[in-house]
Amino acid sequence: MEPRAVSASCSVLAQWMGPSDANPAGFVHGGTVMKLCDEAAAAAAIRHARSRVVTAAVDRMTFLAPVHVGDLLTLQASVNAVWRTSMEVGVRVLSEDPRSGEVRHTNSAYITMVAVDEHGRPVGAIPPLRCETPEESRREREAQLRRENRLAERDQLRDERANEDLGGGGRPA
Ligand SMILES: CC(C)(COP(=O)(O)OP(=O)(O)OC[C@H]1O[C@@H](n2cnc3c(N)ncnc32)[C@H](O)[C@@H]1OP(=O)(O)O)[C@@H](O)C(=O)NCCC(=O)NCCS
Repeated sequence: MEPRAVSASCSVLAQWMGPSDANPAGFVHGGTVMKLCDEAAAAAAIRHARSRVVTAAVDRMTFLAPVHVGDLLTLQASVNAVWRTSMEVGVRVLSEDPRSGEVRHTNSAYITMVAVDEHGRPVGAIPPLRCETPEESRREREAQLRRENRLAERDQLRDERANEDLGGGGRPA
């Protein structure tokens, strides 16, 4: 399968934050930002895989600064790494006060999307990723490290549970 460049699926979503997005403190709900991150990530993933995708995991979601009602939110999503049917998509969220022009980096997210068929089952395989800049290559390496850490943690937790199931906290009888 032909590799597809990161730049071919980079996606930008922009949305004005209105009063209905606010929490009682007057800032934009974290959940609103998370939903938009998911949507921006899905757009990039669909454009890379050219298939349906589902969100398998939100690996990280950081809130660096509050978003204000009236701000223009811009979400930049790009595929960081591709495995067999899954992809990590990085989303960078910028919040602009349109009156002053001040732009702040308010959020970052890493989301794992899986390409699926019409029955919701993972597809055979998706095109590999072609990194064209040193920054894209760095993001790919870092995504690979996050995946290795996640899989190592999963294996460790599975082993611990198996030991607990043996009784006696895993100690020999
Ligand atoms: C994501 C999903 C399709 C994976 O199905 P599955 O039967 O576990 O499939 P597999 O074991 O073959 O895994 C498929 C891929 O998903 C990845 N994956 C599965 N669960 C994952 C998780 N929790 N975190 C990260 N990746 C995951 C696997 O690593 C694998 O990636 P690879 O093919 O690139 O190696 C399935 O768990 C699902 O439908 N989940 C619900 C998704 C959903 O409803 N999301 C919210 C609405 S969009």
